[in-house]
This record gives sequence, structure tokens and C-alpha cells, in this order.
Amino acid sequence: MSEAVTRDWFDAWADEYDDIIPRVPEYQMLVNNIVEYAGVKDGDVVLDIGCGTGFLSLKFVDAAKCKLTAIDLSGEMLAVFRDKLNRLRNEGYDFMNRIELRPGNAVNLPFRDEAFDIVASSAVMHHVTPEEKSKALKEIYRVLKPGGKFLLGELNVDTSGDHNDIKRLERLMASFTKLLILLVSACGAGVLDRMFDNTKKHLLNDGEYAIEIAMWADMCKDVGFDVIRREVLPSGIWGVLVAKRT
Ligand SMILES: C[S@@+](CC[C@H](N)C(=O)[O-])C[C@H]1O[C@@H](n2cnc3c(N)ncnc32)[C@H](O)[C@@H]1O
Repeated sequence: MSEAVTRDWFDAWADEYDDIIPRVPEYQMLVNNIVEYAGVKDGDVVLDIGCGTGFLSLKFVDAAKCKLTAIDLSGEMLAVFRDKLNRLRNEGYDFMNRIELRPGNAVNLPFRDEAFDIVASSAVMHHVTPEEKSKALKEIYRVLKPGGKFLLGELNVDTSGDHNDIKRLERLMASFTKLLILLVSACGAGVLDRMFDNTKKHLLNDGEYAIEIAMWADMCKDVGFDVIRREVLPSGIWGVLVAKRT
């Protein structure tokens, strides 16, 4: 059910996505920090979970001659990414031989054990339900090589709790107002149409189940990861976590 909600949401958003989220300077910082902290090297094998239109994937293949597999639930987001790769090839940047795109779900990774040096994910894991978050982390642990790194870029807002709880509503409205300000500053008021709907989805946990970065860190430790870095970006809205498979 939640999977269908998320797929439909991103299928419908795919054509406009690049005009919104990737234009926000602090989101660019989040993705740049993920790639920097990953320390990706030539020859590394990388998995981008929830690649969307390829914003994070392209930064990885640009940073090193790595091989990258990119998976996503949304066929339309993958189609935008594929068109982008074709356009880049026509412009002389051929990443096709280093990037493989395929449908896939974070909760059930279609890969063998210990296949990747790096697994990364930006703004995806908050779509995984509370019941399935730990399963997704176990899957990431399973497909990483020993010593491999998991890079998580996420919202840093705990949206769990009773929807009728007024304190929760006040706290979440304060956080999502900050996010709307970042979005309107970067893209103009036109984003409010979709992003108000997005805020509503977060408030009602309709395909959106964000938790704080510190909570992700605890869950990673429970699965067996060593959490080697955790940071919250200046607005407080987003954070980055680096966890190492032991
Ligand atoms: C906000 S976008 C982020 C896209 C990209 N990572 C970026 O930073 O621009 C979230 C993406 O995650 C995908 N997604 C959500 N839940 C997923 C899941 N369980 N497995 C795989 N992809 C998922 C969505 O289809 C969407 O493309």
C-alpha cells in the first residue's frame, strides 16, 4: 500500500522533480557531503537506492571511475534518469557503461551478499514504513562488503506519533515551514502547490515516515553497523550519517 502511494507520487512528479529539490542549495550540500564522506575511488562498486532522476548517482560517477547500480520504485523517475544519460552521451559524457538502472525496492534488494563497496541513499529512506526500516537496513548491511560504507542523507524530523497530538503538529509545522522557506527561496512560490501536498503527506504519514538522524544512527547500530559520522545541516531539516559494515 505504502509502496503504491510512493510510486504513484513520484511517477506523477518525475517531470518536475529536477526543477525543485535539486535546486535547493542545502540539498546540494547534503548530496555533496554524501559523496565526499563516501571517499569513492576508481573501481569501487556503488549502489544508489532510490536514485530518482540521478542527482546523487551522477555525482558519484563524476567523482571517480566507479561502477554504479541505481534502483528506484518509480518507473517514471528512472525514465527521466535514462533520458538524462542519453542526453549526456550526446554531449560527450558517456556514463552508460558505468551506470546500470533497474527497478527495485530498498526493503528487498535484488543483489547477492557483499556485492558493494558503498551503498548510498538520499531522501529515500523516510518513505520506508516504520515496520520495514530495520529490514531495509539489514538488506543494506547484507549487500555491503565487510568494511563497506553506508551513506544516508535524510530528513531530520521525527514524524512518528499521534496525528491528533497538537504538540506534534506544532513541532512538525515549524520544521516543514523551514523546509518550505528553503524551497521557495530556491525555486519560487510555484513549488507550494506540490510541496503543501507533500507537507500534508508527512503530517498524516501518508507514504512519508521521516525520523531523526539520531534515530537512524541507533537503528544502524542495532543492525551491526559502526556509525562513524553523523551531522545535521545548518537548517536542522536534513542530516547525513555514515555507517560502516564491520
Ligand atoms: C525525494 S526522491 C530522491 C531522489 C534522489 N535520491 C535525489 O536525491 O534526488 C525519492 C526517490 O526514492 C524512491 N523511493 C521511495 N521509496 C523507495 C523504496 N522503498 N525503494 C526504492 N526507491 C524508493 C522514489 O521513487 C523517488 O524516486
